[in-house]
Amino acid sequence: MEPILHEYGSLLLRWTHIIAGMAWIGSSFYFMHLDASLKACADIPPGKGGEAWEVHGGGFYQVKKYLVAPDFLPEELGWHKWQSYATWITGFFLLIWVYYYQSSIFLIDPAVMNLKPITALVIGLGGLAAGWIAYDQLCRSRLGDKPLVVGIIVFAGVVLAAFLYQQVFSPRAAFIHTGALMATIMSGNVFFVIIPNQHKVVAALKAGEVPNPYYGKTAKLRSGHNNYFTLPVVFLMISNHYPLTYSTPYAFVIVALALVAGTVIRYFYNERHAGRGDKAWCWLVAAVCLILAIFISATTTPAGRMALGLPPLVSPAYAKSGPAVDVPVDIQNVVMGRCAMCHAAEPVYEGFAVPPRGILLDTPEAIAKNRKLILVQAGLTHAMPPNNITELSDEDRAMLKEWASGK
Ligand code: HEC
Repeated sequence: MEPILHEYGSLLLRWTHIIAGMAWIGSSFYFMHLDASLKACADIPPGKGGEAWEVHGGGFYQVKKYLVAPDFLPEELGWHKWQSYATWITGFFLLIWVYYYQSSIFLIDPAVMNLKPITALVIGLGGLAAGWIAYDQLCRSRLGDKPLVVGIIVFAGVVLAAFLYQQVFSPRAAFIHTGALMATIMSGNVFFVIIPNQHKVVAALKAGEVPNPYYGKTAKLRSGHNNYFTLPVVFLMISNHYPLTYSTPYAFVIVALALVAGTVIRYFYNERHAGRGDKAWCWLVAAVCLILAIFISATTTPAGRMALGLPPLVSPAYAKSGPAVDVPVDIQNVVMGRCAMCHAAEPVYEGFAVPPRGILLDTPEAIAKNRKLILVQAGLTHAMPPNNITELSDEDRAMLKEWASGK
């Protein structure tokens, strides 16, 4: 029962995580667009805000923005913070659920570094905290007045983090931790800076004081970062279902390319919505980045090289085999006979150029490593082989199930 609950838990967490993320990014896009489309209006002095007219759902909206101080403040204000908190919280539990609960499957790769689960936990979560602190200090430093310099340092920092995670975690976990670090910075911005600053502004207004414009300014810097992070973060999150992106020694370069591509596309829309024209070069830059990423995946991942007929590249994560394992010969025979034609580095099953989902089942080590996945996909459910295409018998399935469940 436990693996079923675990699978379902993962599905439910992912479901809520994606929905919260959609709400968050959606409202972030909405407000960036709104900010960019504000026009001067009669009752707000120039430079102190503006208004936008919008049409949606059968009605017309007249939205006004007051930079810092409206003349009066109603009791009820709509805050936008739970989209962000909910995204982070569900994402955090999903990370724990998938990567830390089953750290031997997804997180720890002995060929990269043979970590103890607790050490991996400290590195993984400690890295998120350290990354946030470094970023926050950078924004608070004197450089905080130079958004471009800060932007370049943040970019370099994220790529460095991707590189460092690659030195300790499995390729897939390294990628997702890089995404989680960026997402933590985004939520940290909302929780520690943007919302508290807004509270200070509201409190000042209620006390009849003029709020310090610094609060609005720093909040804007951070929400600008958040805006430029959205596209790359989503790329990193969904990439962990695509081994071509992360199973290369140059995964950190793919991270860098995704950062640039996502940022310039956001920039294109920010400029367009602000009425500063369509900067077509942004798409050219994004396209070049993505073509480079495809090239790196094709020439440096095991699957990519296989598809191109190139000899395998010797990378640490693939060169060494894991610790010696003891998989009964009967089990090996069943898996080799019913699964490995697709789940091999070089699948022999027609139509498969690369192992599906990056899952290898062609050596005893790989079979042992994927034990829990085998249990769920072939033992407890009949998901694999697809449509039982390789005719796994009920007896063999029962045997797989018994072995995989550790009985
Ligand atoms: C005909 C080719 C083929 C055979 C044979 C096959 N698989 Fe698969 N396997 C696939 C494909 C395709 C996917 C990806 C399914 C998807 O994307 O939903 C997959 C996915 C998987 C996954 C990952 C599921 C996930 O969502 O994480 C596991 C684990 C797996 N297979 C185990 C097995 C086992 C165990 C066997 C043998 C009993 C087996 N497969 C036989 C094609 C095959």
